[in-house]
Amino acid sequence: MTIALKIEDLHASIGAIEIIKGLDLELPFGEVHAIMGPNGSGKSTLCHALTGNPVYEVSGSAKLGGKELLDKEISERALMGLIQGFQYPTEVPGVRLAEFLIEAGAERGIERSAIEERIRVEAERFTMTDFLDRSLNDDLSGGEKKRSEIFQAAVLGPRVALLDEIDSGLDIDAVKQVAEAVEEMRSPEIGTLMITHYSRILRYLTPDRIHVMLDGRIVESGGAELAEELEDGGYDAIRDRLGIEKPAEEEAPKKPSDFFTDIPF
Ligand SMILES: Nc1ncnc2c1ncn2[C@@H]1O[C@H](COP(=O)(O)OP(=O)(O)OP(=O)(O)O)[C@@H](O)[C@H]1O
Ligand SMILES: [Mg+2]
Repeated sequence: MTIALKIEDLHASIGAIEIIKGLDLELPFGEVHAIMGPNGSGKSTLCHALTGNPVYEVSGSAKLGGKELLDKEISERALMGLIQGFQYPTEVPGVRLAEFLIEAGAERGIERSAIEERIRVEAERFTMTDFLDRSLNDDLSGGEKKRSEIFQAAVLGPRVALLDEIDSGLDIDAVKQVAEAVEEMRSPEIGTLMITHYSRILRYLTPDRIHVMLDGRIVESGGAELAEELEDGGYDAIRDRLGIEKPAEEEAPKKPSDFFTDIPF
């Protein structure tokens, strides 16, 4: 069986700061995997590095359907079927959502009539019809932006979908809707990697695997019981069980008296 996404010894850094520190992960086609990890552990960086954001210096290997991604341009990776649903979607004033999807579809060789039909059907499903003539993500509420991201993924039909905090900032009905959409997108041709902080979305969809990410690495993978362990004991429970030390806390801020005595007169 081909693996949708196979990541081996991935490193990503910005200047001297290493953020992803030798990450391995295997996502088979047809499966939905969730990554959970504390703030700053590198989850979004993982998505950016895979999609090809040039800010990061990346090494190691990441293969989509057996083909290396890391030596390809961003646009080539997209054409190979990689799509990223952003944690913070960019606003693009002046580019209508529908136009953007028609162009993106054309780039992928999808005929205009076919993409228009997909847009119509998915827009109804995600109540996005009113947004089709508005600029991409411009002046959308946080929840509307997230709904737009999953809507775009559903229209474009990726082979590997990286959904970064697609459930953050959503009201409870929207969480259910997004969870159902992820389940509906499930097919033997797609692998979905979903990043989340909340086990509430896991009430509505069952990932095949949950990965815990700490300090730039996947330290543990398992089933629903991992989400329960996190819910009960937080990341410290995982650290304790695996004998991983907590990263050093930031230096405590100096007291005001230190501030004055530190001034070199
Ligand atoms: N462009 C950048 N410049 C400097 N530091 C960066 C940059 N991008 C990421 N980092 C740092 O890398 C670390 C990981 O960030 P990242 O956004 O990947 O975390 P995350 O796991 O997605 O966190 P969150 O759960 O808060 O979204 C953080 O300490 C962040 O400040
Ligand atoms: Mg993030």
